[in-house]
This record gives sequence, C-alpha cells and structure tokens, in this order.
Amino acid sequence: MKLDETKRQKIIHPIPPLYDKDSKILILGSFPSVKSREEAFFYGHKQNRFWKLLAGILSEKKPETVEEKKDFLHRNCIAVWDVIHSCDIIGSSDSSIRNVVPNDLSEILESADIRQIYCNGAKSYEYYRKYQEKETGRKAKKLPSTSPANAAFSIEKLTNEWKEICGPLQVAPAGIGGVLLNWYDYNARILPWRSDPTPYHVWISEIMLQQTRVEAVKKYYDRWMESLPDVKALAEVPDDELMKLWEGLGYYNRARNLKAAAVQIMEEFDGEIPSDYSKLLSLRGIGEYTAGAIASIAFGIPESAVDGNALRIFSRILAEDGEINKTSVKKKITQEVRRVLPEERPGDFNQALMDLGSSICIPNGEPFCENCPWESICKAHKYGQETDFPVKAKKKQRKIEKKAVFLIEVSDKIILHKRPEKGLLSGLWELPNLDGELSAKELSEQMKKWEIGDYMIEPLGEGKHIFSHVEWQMRGYRIQMRDISEKLLEKEEWIAVSREDLEEKYAIPSAFECYRKQIYRG
Ligand code: ADE
Repeated sequence: MKLDETKRQKIIHPIPPLYDKDSKILILGSFPSVKSREEAFFYGHKQNRFWKLLAGILSEKKPETVEEKKDFLHRNCIAVWDVIHSCDIIGSSDSSIRNVVPNDLSEILESADIRQIYCNGAKSYEYYRKYQEKETGRKAKKLPSTSPANAAFSIEKLTNEWKEICGPLQVAPAGIGGVLLNWYDYNARILPWRSDPTPYHVWISEIMLQQTRVEAVKKYYDRWMESLPDVKALAEVPDDELMKLWEGLGYYNRARNLKAAAVQIMEEFDGEIPSDYSKLLSLRGIGEYTAGAIASIAFGIPESAVDGNALRIFSRILAEDGEINKTSVKKKITQEVRRVLPEERPGDFNQALMDLGSSICIPNGEPFCENCPWESICKAHKYGQETDFPVKAKKKQRKIEKKAVFLIEVSDKIILHKRPEKGLLSGLWELPNLDGELSAKELSEQMKKWEIGDYMIEPLGEGKHIFSHVEWQMRGYRIQMRDISEKLLEKEEWIAVSREDLEEKYAIPSAFECYRKQIYRG
C-alpha cells in the first residue's frame, strides 16, 4: 500500500509503561496504533487479538475497558511496553516508522524480576535487537504479531506460539484439561466407588482413601456398603460396630466423624447429602479436598479437589519451587488446577489427576514421563528435574516411644484395656501396655500392681508401628494367669473377652497387628 507522506507526524509515545514489582514477563510492541493513542492504552484496536489471545491462554474473561485491561495485566504479572519512545509515523503503519528514538527499559527491569522479554511481532523484535539488546544484555523472544495486519495468523496458531508465556509466568496453559481427560478416557482405573458415584459412595470412599492405599480400601469399602448402605444406617450404627468396620484402617477419628456427619445430615439436611460446596464443608470431617471431591464427582460441580497427587503433578508442570506444605503454595496450585479444570467434566478431571499421580507422575522414584499426556508442557520434565519437585521441608524426626505390650490370658479369655478418650487411638480397645523398656524386676512389680498373682510369662518378641509423628518400638509378653484379677476388672476400662468376641466385636488398632497371630495361637 502506498503511504501518504503528507500524513507523516513526529509522535512521542503517549502511554506510560504498565508494570509492578511482581511482573514476571515483559511484552514489547513497537509503537501504539492511532486507536491505542486515542484510548491512551496498549492494543486498543478492536481487531488486535492481544487481549482475546492472552485471556484465552490464561483462562480468563477478555478484559474490555482500560481499567479491566490494567487489572488483568497486574493480576497475571505481565508488564507491557513498547520499544519506541518517539518516531515519525504515518497513521498506525509499522512500516512507515522512521527516526526512531528507543525507550529505556531499565526502570522496568530494575523494579521487577522479569524472567523473559517477549516481542509482539517482527518489527518490535527488530528494534529491540537494534537498540535495546546490548543495553539490557538480555535476549528477547519473538512471537507472531497480534496486530490486524497479521490476520493470516489464526487465533489458534497465535495461541500455539504465545502459550510459551505460561512457562515464565508459572501458570498451567489453558486446554491441558482436555488433554488429560482424553488420557483418562482410556486409562481410568476401575474402582468399586466409581461404578455408581452417588454422594454417599463418593463421601465414604474419599474418607477411607485419606492416608490409605486404594488396594487396601477396596475390601473395606465393599464390606461397609453391605453393612451401612446409606446415611441413615450410618447415623444409627452402634459405636462398637462402627469401629469394627474400620478396624485396621487407622486414624479412627475418620470413622467417628463419618457417623457425626451422618447425624448432622439427618438432622440438618433431611437425610440428603447437600449438593453445595460450603454446606459440605460444614459437615464433620469434611475439609476442602473432600468437599471438592464430593461436589465434583457426585454432583458435577466445577470444584477442584487438590490432594497430594494434584500438588505433586502441578508442582512439576509449573516447576514450582516454593515449599509444598506452605499455604501460599497450596493456594497457588489450587488456583492453577481451577484454571484448567474443564467445567463440563470436573469429577473426571479430578480423578484423572489421582490416576495420573498413582500410575505415571508417581511420588517415589522416577516418574514415567514418556507415557504422560502432559509431557510436552511439563517444566520439570523439560529440565530433567522431575524428582526435584515438589520441594519439601526437611521432615522432623519421628519421636520414638518404647512400649511393653501384654497379651494377658486367663483361661480362654484375653484382657483388653480401653484407651483414654483423648489423644492417639483415643477410646479404642488395646492390648494392655506400658511406656518404656521394663526390667524383670519392673515387670514383676507391675504384675503385683495389677494384682496378677500366679502367672507365667513368655516373651513374644519385638514389634514396631509407625504413626505419622511417633514410632512405637514394642516388646511383647504373654502373661498366662490362673485366676482372673477381680481388682483389675473392677474398672470399666478393663475387660476380659473371648477370642470369638475379640474377632467379631472389638476393633484392635493395627499398631498391635504384630501380636495378632499370638492372640489366636492360644
Ligand atoms: N484417592 C483418593 N480419592 C480417590 C479416587 N476417587 N479414586 C482413586 N484414588 C483416590
């Protein structure tokens, strides 16, 4: 097109740079178009795809007003400016530009930790290389122009090139949710609670799956559903029966909370599990993860359910170097999960993360990146640093507690002791035990205290059980006594039970599992 030289004007850039101390990337254009100069803000021409493109990549609504555009850039840590301070130009035409005076970028680069400079289009890149590269000492990356003059480049093609900005911004690119769902369609695990994901089924399975492996949960889940098929049955179950159904799963408060929440559902929600995230959160034992899992899997509500798998996977794809247990890091990752979560299949997406985490992006050892649907967008993989993420704080050493554990037999009965209502394994029946390592003398003094008169003692060997913060190192003893000690059994926290009752009615914590065989030997 022929340029009308009579329209050439010397223009000084009328828009100040937009940046703040949190800016992570700087996007440089060449010089504002007539429309942008009128609007006094960047990329003001309706046909410029800059805002649509960035909003799409960052899964946000396209900003319309100048205020919205400024908020959008600040919120997403993007600085914007142009390479030219002043020039002679005809209208908006890049190719008419003469007598360029470049902008000084130092004020931006000194105020913010800019991880990458991008040039929007070839002209801006050309000027950057000519005037600024030496000054800044930094290479810029050229991205295809979003200007209407580059209309041949479709928005899809632009997106494909521009999604590169997600790396330095540490955000998950939009569209990756769909890629994961495609993978899930062929790789989802077949699990009992997935065949009929009612709110009750999802709730019970999610609580069981906290701190317990999927394989171990399967049989507990099936047995539970046979005994307690709905909320009402759970609300009415006697405590001993409840504990028996949970025996061996550990963290027994989970079972108590389930029953308390079932009572709450009967009383406050007419027996229906609420289909609302914040109401779910109001139930006993339901935190953000479980509320998100029930809302998304059972009700199809677009909520994230961020567990250890999601944290690990996202810390790797973003190369997140903040410590993973920090609230701020969890919040940031939750925001990223939410950003890419496909609204139409939130439950499948959340479960796909769980499956990806258990089969490919595994916690211990090298992940199987060659089979990962997100291999191409994973930053940790790009740098071969998969196992450096997530970043974990040094673990505190577990406290070691020594215990003497007693299998006290009297005729065909076994003596059990009920633990206090507060603290570790609260309110559960256990094999009687004492803190510390006992000498022979201390042992016999203890037997006297318990008024165990005539007895035989046999060592049962050592056992160990690891809780999250404590490790029990146990030494077991079989005590065979001739007569039952009435004094001992006077108190309600001591009982003598037959082996059949023990098997059917009393839930003994798995900490004593190492002595279980000895119980049934007799
Ligand atoms: N771990 C926790 N919840 C799970 C689920 N719904 N499926 C598989 N593994 C899980």
